[in-house]
Amino acid sequence: MPITPDHLPDDPAALKRIIAAMAQDTLTAQAEIARLKFQLARYRRAEFGRSSEKLAHEAEQLELALEALETDQAERLATASPEVAAAVETATEAQKPARRPLPQHLPREDRRHPAPCTCPSCGGALRKIAEEVSETLDYVPGRFKVIRHIREKLSCRTCDTVVAPDGAGTFTAQIFDDEGQFLFGRGANGGPVALSQQLAKFFIGVNDPFGPTGAVFNPEVFDIYSNWGTLHGRSQKSERRQAIVRGEELFNTTKFNITGVAGLNDALNQPSISGFCSTCHDTPNAGNHSVPAPLNIGVADAGTASPPALDISGLPVFTIWCTSGPLAGQMFEVTDPGRALITGKCADIGKVKGPILRGLSARAPYFHNGSAATLADVVEFYNQRFDIGFTDQQKADLVAFLSAL
Ligand code: HEC
Repeated sequence: MPITPDHLPDDPAALKRIIAAMAQDTLTAQAEIARLKFQLARYRRAEFGRSSEKLAHEAEQLELALEALETDQAERLATASPEVAAAVETATEAQKPARRPLPQHLPREDRRHPAPCTCPSCGGALRKIAEEVSETLDYVPGRFKVIRHIREKLSCRTCDTVVAPDGAGTFTAQIFDDEGQFLFGRGANGGPVALSQQLAKFFIGVNDPFGPTGAVFNPEVFDIYSNWGTLHGRSQKSERRQAIVRGEELFNTTKFNITGVAGLNDALNQPSISGFCSTCHDTPNAGNHSVPAPLNIGVADAGTASPPALDISGLPVFTIWCTSGPLAGQMFEVTDPGRALITGKCADIGKVKGPILRGLSARAPYFHNGSAATLADVVEFYNQRFDIGFTDQQKADLVAFLSAL
């Protein structure tokens, strides 16, 4: 039942009690919000250490609880009378931690802040007159200990390959999406922990369609989000996850003709190769090219050959005349000579390596010359460059997927 002024007593003392009780209620709710936020922060921190479905689930539940409380709290304050709002504000001020002594039962650790040994103004000797003690609250999750990770790095006597153990190295990958939330929730394998487990399966040439190892090529390079393929909920989170898995499918399965790529079409003597995004981005769940194969997909082109959808207006333009070799007499205009700077060969102009596609969200702008400000620009470039014909929905899905890597 809504409380209207008719239901309230006229006695000022009774009214004061009601206001005080309501303000107390609000404070309790605020304290609960603060406690939940703190707990959520701990879960978030813990989740970097280990990928656990249970942890992710609990954190999600906490987030929902928080959302409900915060909405509730905002509504209370919005509908409260100005007197109540003022009372809450005064009480909140009074509750600020620094103004209240911290609970006696908590363990205390003294940190002495050294004072100067001599008087800073005259250099004279000092003597102690008093101590100023202030207290701050610190939280140590569990207790700290230092773990030394000792991993043997071995070298194979027969083929001279260095063998790195599972999980050695540093791995960066997106772990949380504002809408899709935990990227390892519901059977998905986003985040750096799952990525670190890919390492053991890697070898130079793995899954390369044209590689010297004769490895079998599977265009399904990414299967991080395949378990989200069965989702059909209508919540914002579920819809975002569905977009991500649709994007993964598009990356793996959209067929288009790869043409005019120096290092690929010319090297294989095939003017048109029917392929996928994964033809070049072929390392499973990492997306880099698994063989050293510098390619020129046209990103560095300038002048009349400027790439579609990319902004190269702020970049320098190199004009390179080729004076000898098979390309003698030709002129190239590029924003970056690419591998030609290393080899001095005209054939290598504009060629760069196919990068790892993990952790993309954190490192805009894209392409080696930064000409794509966003992942949407990257997708638009490919769409026009290879005449793919993505619909707006497909472009958005692909961007959702790339952002979740
Ligand atoms: C013909 C080979 C090839 C194909 C096909 C290809 N890429 Fe690339 N991709 C590359 C190369 C080479 C680069 C590096 C270009 C550069 O930095 O200038 C690259 C760069 C990228 C980047 C930028 C990463 C970064 O760190 O800046 C993204 C994202 C990307 N590709 C996504 C895709 C998607 C999505 C598709 C399919 C629509 C695709 N690629 C198809 C070769 C390819």
